[in-house]
Amino acid sequence: MALQAIKGFNDILPPATTTWRWVENTFHQLLSSYGFGEIRLPIMEYTELFSRSIGDDTDIVEKEMYTFSDRSNRSLTLRPEGTASVVRAFIQHGLAAAGDIHKLYYVGPMFRYERPQKGRYRQFYQLGAEVFGEEDYHQDAEILIMLARYFHVLGVRSAKLNLNSLGCEKCRPAYRQALQDFLRQHDGQLCTDCRRRLGKNPLRVLDCKRPDCRNIVAGAPKILDYLGADCRAHFDGVTRLLDGAGLDYQVNPLMVRGLDYYTRTTFEFLAGDLGAQNAVAAGGRYDRLVEELGGKATPAIGFAIGMERLTMLVDSASVPGSAPFIYLAALGEKALEMLYPLLHALNQEGIGTVLNYRQKSLKNLMKKADRIKVEYTLIVGDQEMEQGAAILRNMKTKEQQSIPLNTLFASIREVFNGHQNN
Ligand code: HAM
Repeated sequence: MALQAIKGFNDILPPATTTWRWVENTFHQLLSSYGFGEIRLPIMEYTELFSRSIGDDTDIVEKEMYTFSDRSNRSLTLRPEGTASVVRAFIQHGLAAAGDIHKLYYVGPMFRYERPQKGRYRQFYQLGAEVFGEEDYHQDAEILIMLARYFHVLGVRSAKLNLNSLGCEKCRPAYRQALQDFLRQHDGQLCTDCRRRLGKNPLRVLDCKRPDCRNIVAGAPKILDYLGADCRAHFDGVTRLLDGAGLDYQVNPLMVRGLDYYTRTTFEFLAGDLGAQNAVAAGGRYDRLVEELGGKATPAIGFAIGMERLTMLVDSASVPGSAPFIYLAALGEKALEMLYPLLHALNQEGIGTVLNYRQKSLKNLMKKADRIKVEYTLIVGDQEMEQGAAILRNMKTKEQQSIPLNTLFASIREVFNGHQNN
């Protein structure tokens, strides 16, 4: 049998890669303009990092990690997300020492052993960012408004913000107790996973996707009714700023997220047109995690966007073109010899150029040029060589003009400049 890629691991081919690159470049530009610096992280970490940060009772740690032993019998895991690694790097390199706000972003593949379906893969890419050292609610709103702006620039209109607060270590115990009491009254109807989680980590039950559990959860106590005064003021501050910015959002008090490290603000951007896997981006505050992983207590907040899901929402027609400008159609040996240096000279000039080598049929060449989506084709056959003039064809208008062979470079450059100024 022919070799295949691993199930859930995808090749991203052209032209989709053009959209990917645009989405990535726009992210780099936007994050830089908001004062973020890029961090490049290893793809593997010691397993302990993820079990301690994401949480032992989460689906990710319980059943979705690619974990194996290396040759020295140390347990390693392909990263299922980026936050834990950024926090580890933040502590390891003493970035907190400067006592400043640190804004870091990353782009790269993550790995989760989930059941593959549309929008859910075992290797998937995230665009993510984390801010350390700022506890003010303005920071939460800044991130949300920046994300909304990013979607707007990409022409993605369907991503709707869902917002919640998970409180802090002071207000959460009372909520946890109330939730546990409520769920215990219904534990006969909960799935086995939820019954098991009920004792140690009842908030996880809110995240169960099974219909029976969801029905029960719909009537559960709401965290927003249990927030202490500080957490309430923080949440109200965020919503006030979002209202001020005219950002549409929905408060969803049952949203807990699939990772355990969150405190206070949590959010998801959901897009109906994605189908079942509708979260295109998600994140929140995690004010305790740096300390829990051995660093100095540092408030933090971040998000991650799923690249595959985001690119599904981007209209490829809106992606700025990156096709070559001109196709040099050499119909014959002499034409090829003459056009070959022009291929390099034009590219060196920044004028995207491709050349064919052994194609004899003009019709096929035109088809090829159309497929590549070039703006112009330069046609040179034996007849043009004899007459000393090539044909320059505008592929959109189909207009043709004759260009003397001894002015090809200058004439094409002039046409290119005219095209750029239009
Ligand atoms: P997450 O919700 O697990 O959060 O993932 C963030 C986004 O990654 C999701 O909304 C989704 O778009 C994408 N994603 C997740 N799993 C898959 C998959 N199997 N296939 C395709 N896309 C997927 C985090 O990872 C947190 N680290 C976000 C964060 C950063 N919180 C604070 N800082």
